[in-house]
Amino acid sequence: TTVAVDDADYRLGGHDDFMHKEMAEQPDAIRRALLGRLDERFSTSRLDGLRLDARELRAIRRVKFLGCGSAYYAGQLGASLVEELSRLPADAEPASEFRYRNPVVEHDTLYVAVSQSGETADTLAAVQELKRKGGQVIGVVNGVGSAIARECGRGVFLHAGPEVSVASTKAVTNMSVCFALLATLLGRVRDLGVADGARMVSALSALPDHVAAVLAQDDEIAAVARKFKDARRMFFIGRVRCWPVAREGAQKLKEISYVHAEAYQASELKHGPLALIDPDMPSVVLVPDDELLTKNIATIEQIKARGGPVIAVTNADLPEGLADAVIRAPRITRELDPILLTVPLQMFAYHLARELGRDIDKPRNLAKSVTVE
Ligand code: G6P
Repeated sequence: TTVAVDDADYRLGGHDDFMHKEMAEQPDAIRRALLGRLDERFSTSRLDGLRLDARELRAIRRVKFLGCGSAYYAGQLGASLVEELSRLPADAEPASEFRYRNPVVEHDTLYVAVSQSGETADTLAAVQELKRKGGQVIGVVNGVGSAIARECGRGVFLHAGPEVSVASTKAVTNMSVCFALLATLLGRVRDLGVADGARMVSALSALPDHVAAVLAQDDEIAAVARKFKDARRMFFIGRVRCWPVAREGAQKLKEISYVHAEAYQASELKHGPLALIDPDMPSVVLVPDDELLTKNIATIEQIKARGGPVIAVTNADLPEGLADAVIRAPRITRELDPILLTVPLQMFAYHLARELGRDIDKPRNLAKSVTVE
């Protein structure tokens, strides 16, 4: 006798939806992204697909990340990693804007096209425009054989495996991991010392287990989401390394729960958005254990003083009773902590969307890949 198994049920492997499954796959996805790419002997990374030797890597004077949606926010995190570890100026721009504004293309800039699908029309067009102007472009792409991967002809594959949920999770995480590898490589051909290189190599190796530890808090994070399920609007606050994390967190919440979420840098709050703080405007505040810890604690106090509820997402030891809810993550190392802090925000958005009964894998009005303008 044969047992009929529904194909989707089989592919979901016990999860209720693909987003949950794909979040759970992150430790393994990161391990695949790191496979063969960590060089312990020289405390650096190896990215053979770039096809750039040390001399060519040293000739790069600037790095620019281009992508759309979550790939753009991941690129912003990548720019922060590159700048911090290699001291090269780096930034990110939506590919859709870049392609239309007659950009200045410099021969010593490394352009990085970022895309899960490898099929996003705007990102592909940006790559074509760059190539037409003689720009040096690499792809950081999940889709092997995709249009962007083929057009770039070199780069770094994400190895995240197939992603079905419209809201990207494991692909976004692997983008950040690949940017950490790229930043370490660019740093080590410049002024990033052996000790810092070794610190990055060991932190990256430890990342999958730390992500697994965050995933294990599914019930706790679901409880926090339940507590805030009636909120119709939310702020996501982060600064410096965690600013792209806040933007990605707000994006996830908007995409799958339809709750209005806006990201702000903590430092900008007092220049306008603070006027919106009241008991109906909860703020998700990212508090990494870094040199801005006391500033972030002061931000929480300012929000609380105006009656705003606060959910702290942190790997630091916060004063008891500071926030209304706390979601904790482990510490890795200051450059990689933002990657880890992205994961609880995915889970928070997921559980809040579930509380509201949303169609998690297929949010209204959105497509997994936008292959038309
Ligand atoms: C669409 C999806 C987003 C995604 C963006 C870029 O808008 O809804 O989740 O981040 O495209 O997709 P890509 O495949 O280029 O990473």
